[in-house]
Amino acid sequence: AFYPALAALAGYLVGSLSFAVIVSRVMGLNDPRTYGSKNPGATNVLRSGSKAAAIVTLLLDALKGWLPVMAVAWWGKPYGLEEGTMALVGLAAFLGHLYPVFFRFVGGKGVATAMGVIVATSGWLGLAVGLTWLIIAYAFRYSSLASLVAAVFAPVYYAFGDGVAWVMDKSLLLSAIVMSLLLIWRHSENISRLIKGTESKLGSKKKA
Ligand code: G3P
Repeated sequence: AFYPALAALAGYLVGSLSFAVIVSRVMGLNDPRTYGSKNPGATNVLRSGSKAAAIVTLLLDALKGWLPVMAVAWWGKPYGLEEGTMALVGLAAFLGHLYPVFFRFVGGKGVATAMGVIVATSGWLGLAVGLTWLIIAYAFRYSSLASLVAAVFAPVYYAFGDGVAWVMDKSLLLSAIVMSLLLIWRHSENISRLIKGTESKLGSKKKA
């Protein structure tokens, strides 16, 4: 259990890099934890008015979920690390984003990072979940609603998408379910805003 634990720790540390805060600082923008939804995530960075900063945040937050899982897939075999460790490391990176050790454990909601983890475990699944997000975001203009719908569908696609899902280690499915549940829970304020009709739409800089 030494190597899986070490890999999980590395995943958690990488996940703890809150890129919304880091990118904003580097680009001389306000701290995303001080405006809008106060969430350190790409959606809220977009509310600063800088599309570039939001895109870089999205890509880096996704990369930090993708890379640890891929690292296990590429280099894990000699150390006996298989799909179970991929699932563990992906979950660890996701948890790092939610509870970053470098930012007093105050992190984001995990959408981009979960997306990176999913793409690393299956390109087709990533495509399906990504398209789900885009369709809902385009139709309703709420980033949070798109994230919530994608989070509900991700494990469903995983379990029923194709036969491949059942050949794969169940730990990947389990980690997808855990990520979805945590992600939905982290959106509880968004859910009440959506119900009240006060959630801010994509493209508006209004306070969330
Ligand atoms: O990525 C998080 C998104 O789903 C909602 O973000 O800032 O609107 O709470 P935000």
